[in-house]
Amino acid sequence: MSTDFYDLIRRRRDVRAEFTGAPIDDALLERVLSAAHAAPSVGMSQPWDFVLIRDRDTRERFREHVRRERDTFAAELSGERAETFRRIKVEGILESTLSVVVTYDPERGSPAVLGRHAIADAGLYSVCLAIQNLWLAATAEGLGVGWVSFYREDFLRGLLGIPAGVRPVAWLCLGPVTHLQDVPDLERHGWRDRLPLDAVVHNERYPG
Ligand SMILES: Cc1cc2nc3c(=O)[nH]c(=O)nc-3n(C[C@H](O)[C@H](O)[C@H](O)COP(=O)(O)O)c2cc1C
Repeated sequence: MSTDFYDLIRRRRDVRAEFTGAPIDDALLERVLSAAHAAPSVGMSQPWDFVLIRDRDTRERFREHVRRERDTFAAELSGERAETFRRIKVEGILESTLSVVVTYDPERGSPAVLGRHAIADAGLYSVCLAIQNLWLAATAEGLGVGWVSFYREDFLRGLLGIPAGVRPVAWLCLGPVTHLQDVPDLERHGWRDRLPLDAVVHNERYPG
């Protein structure tokens, strides 16, 4: 058993406020992206692409869009939920060193993607595994990752020239951090706690 491995999983955090903006060495970035590209994928389709965004203007335009989407979500809340959400930071787009947009191309490896005939979403699952590999590799390298999903896919397609059939799956903020929080931000702010393991593990049948 590798305690280092379990410790890495425990230490991984979604980062918003702890980015330093310091540069990332090219070789380090390549190691992290290689880890993402080593993920399993349905039918070996490797349906992911990674768009690296350093341009300040592109990031500012995206952050503006995210702010509007944050307001849209906030408008659905009231009372304690509204007050708690007001304190939660949902992105570190400008504070991080760069952004990585991860996309899903359902045409990659088509028409006969082995193992996807009955479950179309298996392609998307593959992209999420690449993202998790990236996230853990970044953590092992002392970098932080922050997944931003407060956006409309069409906006991001327009911003980055992503073709209509390709889905942006994640905007990831990436870079060196001052430290990683011990407790997830949403728990620290009282938004939601991690469930106990026995609430999600079941024997033989899905709980009725
Ligand atoms: C699909 C997905 C989308 C997410 N979107 C956002 C987001 O838009 N903004 C944000 O601050 N965190 C986002 N997160 C991070 C979660 O809030 C975070 O993973 C969760 O609170 C647990 O914290 P931890 O990752 O530090 O363990 C996202 C995570 C996932 C997996």
